[in-house]
Amino acid sequence: EKGNYRHYMQKEIFEQPLVVAQTLQSYVRPFDGKVALPDIDFDLSAVKRITIVACGTSFYAGMVAKYWFEQFARVPVDLDVASEFRYREPVLEPGGLALFISQSGETADTLAALRHARAEGQIIAVVVNVPTSSMAREADLLLPTHAGPEIGVASTKAFTCQLSVLAALAANLARAKGRMSEDEERAVVEHLREAPEAINNALGHDEDIAGIAHLVAPARDVLYLGRGPDYPMALEGALKLKEISYIHAEGYAAGEMKHGPIALIDDLVPVIVIAPSGPLFEKTVSNMQEVRARGGKIILISDAKGLADAGEGCMATIEMPEVHPLIAPLVYAVPVQLLAYHVAVAKGTDVDQPRNLAKSVTVE
Ligand code: M6R
Repeated sequence: EKGNYRHYMQKEIFEQPLVVAQTLQSYVRPFDGKVALPDIDFDLSAVKRITIVACGTSFYAGMVAKYWFEQFARVPVDLDVASEFRYREPVLEPGGLALFISQSGETADTLAALRHARAEGQIIAVVVNVPTSSMAREADLLLPTHAGPEIGVASTKAFTCQLSVLAALAANLARAKGRMSEDEERAVVEHLREAPEAINNALGHDEDIAGIAHLVAPARDVLYLGRGPDYPMALEGALKLKEISYIHAEGYAAGEMKHGPIALIDDLVPVIVIAPSGPLFEKTVSNMQEVRARGGKIILISDAKGLADAGEGCMATIEMPEVHPLIAPLVYAVPVQLLAYHVAVAKGTDVDQPRNLAKSVTVE
């Protein structure tokens, strides 16, 4: 039931502090603060390559995870959308780990990709929200998210729960590979444990975001920019906006702007920049200034420090709490979800049942 909320999507956005905490709880051992995965009968330290396959928002969770697996565990990651993976004859070394991410566990392309990977001798890991789904049944390593049923067609809480599981997996893999000390693992867990509170803080900006939505609603096109793990967040922001508000939106790696899309910039195209302060901040901001120099109207999403450094001259700013870079994607998911939500409400579209879309895509 929707309770006091107007839409399921809104309710599900606001459930995130709770469901992320629930999900993390099942991956962290309370007695020693270390990451624990469900029992597995293979040796994670032997994994030489990971192939991540998913669709839509789940694919973007996989894209964030690629940064983490490579950075923390130094394991090379291959990543593809399921509909491409299936037909491109990927080269898979026997014994590799193939990781599938899905809210429903029934997405036709992802399921077919899973079966293809199994036939090619891969170990099958699945991050899935529906524990009785086909993908859950076919997994060697089942990594459930505990988001509870997601009704809105736009995926929100399943996404942040997927990120939580993937961060835990990255830490576990890094430990197994000898790339992370016990202390470092505990520090990762500490940061993850801060996520629910930080998400809660982000939700506190709901009203500001509803106000900013009125600046975005009249636009025909919107650009989202980000760097590093915030690049997939830009793609996710654009997808959310497209699917429920029907505004054409594109996510771009901030550094790619000058290779073409900057030609689109004028004062009618809002450019939303996702830039938490941290190692990539300066670079993203310099891309943002290039956009501004061409008359672009910028909405900057950053923390107090980032906004103090770069907020001036922006059409609008959205302030997030200052968080460790590891959990930034979990926190910055909130403003992109809320912005899409409020733009859709302002436009009067059917938020929970957008046209032409199904919750679970069980046909190819
Ligand atoms: O159930 P799945 O996670 O496999 O679904 C994948 C996509 O169909 C899904 O994420 C879709 O892109 C959402 N509508 C995005 O909000």
